[in-house]
Parts: sequence; structure tokens; C-alpha cells
Amino acid sequence: MGRQNFGLDVKTVDRIAGEVGRVYTSGYAVCIVIGGGNIFRGVSAAAHGMHRATADNIGMLATIMNSIAFQNSLEKNGIPTRVMSAVAMPSICEPYIRRKALRHIEKKRVVICAAGSGNPYFTTDTAAILRALELGCDVLLKATKVAGVYDSDPEQNQNATLFRNLSYRDVLDKNIRVMDQTAITLAQENNIPIFVFSLMEEGHLEKVLSGEGFCSIIS
Ligand code: GTP
Repeated sequence: MGRQNFGLDVKTVDRIAGEVGRVYTSGYAVCIVIGGGNIFRGVSAAAHGMHRATADNIGMLATIMNSIAFQNSLEKNGIPTRVMSAVAMPSICEPYIRRKALRHIEKKRVVICAAGSGNPYFTTDTAAILRALELGCDVLLKATKVAGVYDSDPEQNQNATLFRNLSYRDVLDKNIRVMDQTAITLAQENNIPIFVFSLMEEGHLEKVLSGEGFCSIIS
């Protein structure tokens, strides 16, 4: 969104794609799951009173728009990218097929997984953990607006404590709302570490991966 209230701010999309591009160029295999809040917020007034499944379907469509926009920004930087959607939309992008996604990764393409898991009631975070597990990722990086995981909302509480390391159980027991409980439980059962970091500072993604930048680690 950049500084807008909703929608796509191309400069911001390009900036984030540039960061992903640098990580890719330094040799990492990257898969991306993008949410749809920036677009969905614009229609959220209409979502009041909607059935949850209907609202979630609209959200999934929003993630496809974001994925295509992000692919466009990556390709402007010469990064080979494939969008694969969990909801079939064959004239716009490929369907998500795990074995095909693995092949794209082997061929050094960035894979953008669109439309969440393709099911209502499951969040983008849950879809991200699911894809990370299916595609054999070593780590899941959750980009946020704040430095990491806090014990309370840092935008509401100035004295919120920032965690460096915490367990899945800590997140569940303390009801920390960094991700929904379904996502955390899936990560816990399969032991995939989650790095929560800020995407607001330029170059921070690379720093997090090299160990120089701050992130909260859930493991
Ligand atoms: P390899 O065969 O592994 O080299 O993969 P590839 O993705 O380069 O080959 P493919 O011929 O499958 O795809 C060529 C282009 O068509 C790529 O940009 C794909 O993203 C796109 N593409 C493939 N399948 C579909 C589809 O079902 N729908 C849409 N819209 N595009 C597709």
C-alpha cells in the first residue's frame, strides 16, 4: 500500500521486489506468499455481514492481483518468476501443482504462490506455512511493519516487550497474535522455524538472512 489507505503503490512494490531480487541474486531459492489485505481493505465495508467464506474468496482473489503485480516488478529486474494459484485461473497464471513448483525452484525461478491455500477459513499465514512445508523450505520469513514479535501490540503499547527467541508454545499459550493459531500449530508439528522481521527498512531482508538484521525467531 505504501502510504495509501488501500491498493497498490507501485514504488513500494518495486522496492520490495528489489529486496527479494537481491536475496535471489545472492543465491537463495525464494518462494513467496502474498496476502490481500491492501486490496481487501478497500472493499471491507461491503464485507460486513458477508458470509466468511464469501469474504475469504474475495481475499483470495486479491492475493492473485498482488501476486501478478509482484511478478511484474520482479521481472522488471530480470528475476525469472512464476505465479501459481491455488484457485484455477488458467488464462492469468499457472495452477499450483507442487511438483511443478519444485521444478520451477530447481530451474532457479522465484515461485509466487497465489490464492492462499485455495480454501476459505484458512489465512495467508497458514497457506505460507503449508507451502513452505510442501516445497521443502528451510525457513519461513514473515514480513511485518514492526521489528518482530512483541508481548502486546507495539502500536498501542509503548512498553511492549520485543522477543528475540520464543517457542511455538509461547506464542500459543500467551495468545500472541503474530500469526493465527492454525498456522503456528502447523509450523510446530513440522518444526519449521519462523523469522518475523520488519520489511519497512530498506535492505533489511538481506541483513536478516545474513544474521546482521534483527528478527524474532519462533522455533
Ligand atoms: P519448464 O517447462 O520447466 O521450462 O517451465 P516453464 O514455466 O518455462 O514452461 P511452460 O511452457 O509451462 O510455461 C511457459 C510460460 O507459460 C510461463 O510464463 C508460465 O508461467 C506460463 N504458463 C504455464 N502454464 C500456464 C497456465 O496454465 N496458465 C497461464 N496463464 N500461464 C501458464
